[in-house]
Amino acid sequence: MENELIIHNLKKTGTTGVCFLNNINLALPRGSRLSVLGPSGSGKTTLLRMIAGLDIPDSGDIRFNNASILDLPPHKRNFGMMFQDYALFPHLDVFHNIAFGLKMKGMSKQEQASIVAEMLALTNLKGFENRKVDELSGGERQRVALARTLAPGPRLLMLDEPLSALDRVLRKHLLDQLTQIFSRLHITTIFVTHDHEEAFAAGSQIILMNQGGIVQNGTPKDLMHRPMNDWVRQFMG
Ligand SMILES: Nc1ncnc2c1ncn2[C@@H]1O[C@H](COP(=O)(O)OP(=O)(O)O)[C@@H](O)[C@H]1O
Ligand SMILES: [Mg+2]
Repeated sequence: MENELIIHNLKKTGTTGVCFLNNINLALPRGSRLSVLGPSGSGKTTLLRMIAGLDIPDSGDIRFNNASILDLPPHKRNFGMMFQDYALFPHLDVFHNIAFGLKMKGMSKQEQASIVAEMLALTNLKGFENRKVDELSGGERQRVALARTLAPGPRLLMLDEPLSALDRVLRKHLLDQLTQIFSRLHITTIFVTHDHEEAFAAGSQIILMNQGGIVQNGTPKDLMHRPMNDWVRQFMG
């Protein structure tokens, strides 16, 4: 299948000369699900921020549908990013949290309501529209955050460690819910985590990062059964 997102020789060095991203190369077919796996400080968030346009590389290119997107500001990339803390608006109800980006786009009330209804159904939140965000459970909040991210119809969905603030039991449960929702979507998804079980569940392709570089790029099976080197073997446990 044709590659939708292509990252070519992407580099970012800090002011002190420390390498944040070291020659990243990546190709993602349309509709694919990638997990970005690696220990803390390996450059996962930096990579996502570059794709989102929140950070600018020193060199290299990021292409989407055969066109470089480096000159596009974040809002023109039409990508959706969900952060670990969900960043929901506590003073707004579920409906208005999900509708926020649609309102910003200047959509009519009617269009907003129709898309919010579709998002509530997708994330199993029917009937929650008038609930206040601070009355929701952790899992419900996460689904509201996902619904809000998906509502404007992004061309790419990115999630940065969406589960890492939660306890182990809840994490497993929410991971199942997330992967179920992903399977109903047709957009390319990039899921960042430091946990290899999460990476296996969320992605059919995995890049394993360390010190700003990609150490191995393959399927979950490749990483488990054909680790590139001792470091990979050790990281995978
Ligand atoms: N804007 C920045 N200023 C200073 N250090 C940064 C900046 N961006 C990234 N880094 C450094 O780059 C490395 C990778 O960070 P990060 O991408 O957050 O890793 P991860 O998300 O895998 O934990 C870290 O050493 C971090 O301190
Ligand atoms: Mg991070």
